[in-house]
Amino acid sequence: MSKIKFYLFTDSEKDHRIRRFREESAKKNIDFQIVNLYKIVIQDNQIIDQEGNVLKIKKNDITWILANVSTGYVVSKFLKDRNIQVWPNFEAVAFADKFITNSFFSGIQVPTPKTVFINSYHMDDIIKAIGGFPCIIKKNISTVGKYVEIVKSEKEVLQFIKNTFEIASKNILPNNRISFMLQEFVKEAKGTDYRVLCLDGKILGVIKRTAKSGFKSNISLGGTAKQIPLPEKIKKYTKKILKKGDIFYAGIDFIKKGNEYLAIEVNTSAQFKGFEQATNINVAEKIINKLIEKN
Ligand SMILES: Nc1ncnc2c1ncn2[C@@H]1O[C@H](COP(=O)(O)OP(=O)(O)O)[C@@H](O)[C@H]1O
Ligand SMILES: [Mg+2]
Repeated sequence: MSKIKFYLFTDSEKDHRIRRFREESAKKNIDFQIVNLYKIVIQDNQIIDQEGNVLKIKKNDITWILANVSTGYVVSKFLKDRNIQVWPNFEAVAFADKFITNSFFSGIQVPTPKTVFINSYHMDDIIKAIGGFPCIIKKNISTVGKYVEIVKSEKEVLQFIKNTFEIASKNILPNNRISFMLQEFVKEAKGTDYRVLCLDGKILGVIKRTAKSGFKSNISLGGTAKQIPLPEKIKKYTKKILKKGDIFYAGIDFIKKGNEYLAIEVNTSAQFKGFEQATNINVAEKIINKLIEKN
């Protein structure tokens, strides 16, 4: 068998995961190449990388896409059509959309906050359905807590949408799909969420993340993480999500409401810096081992 190569597709060469995947690949004598999603040319039957070379991905190579939903979606399909294993795969890319994910949770009877899709600027019925203000607005495709806010009036909803479109128009990506949802604000969550990191149908562990201030517990916003024993309910819901969603790798997030845990997102390209630090589990190595094993 020829030497394995790891192709990492990414939109940010500064991402912490790149360093970790590179380190772990080197230990295993696997060649490692970053493919910049903003600099490649995807045409017909080939992808040309940022150096101008046609990518020659072989069947036993391993591939991984970090972030960038729009181009990632196209690359994922390209690889699928050529029988090359990739994560997130074409089906899993859909989890990048929070509303689609919410619909998936309710469809398989996993508790999730009450949520409505914003399908019109005439919002009376939508706002009534969500139970009025305050509630949370989210851009459906977004990460790191950047497009999640509490809104107290229709005016604030419209302002959030306007601001988001303004920012998006300055983005270097031409094909951003933009939509929004309103969600029940779970006050009791108080800036704490539970991130379950999963690989190949198994739960690697769960960390409890707590916000420094405000209601968003994202580590990228200064939140802190601590490993906790796996709550029974989270285990049950996570197993169901993994099975029904056919999920190879993800960080699945829950918030607590009374005695219930509500699933809020499936992050198929979850960061693992905070998780590795809080648990001492070598996530990058485990991912690479599993990818090789599955090939
Ligand atoms: N419905 C909600 N009620 C209360 N807090 C929430 C709710 N939804 C999200 N949060 C908090 O905000 C954080 C960011 O929201 P999330 O939907 O995970 O967006 P992102 O993908 O940007 O991280 C969550 O980790 C959680 O702490
Ligand atoms: Mg989140």
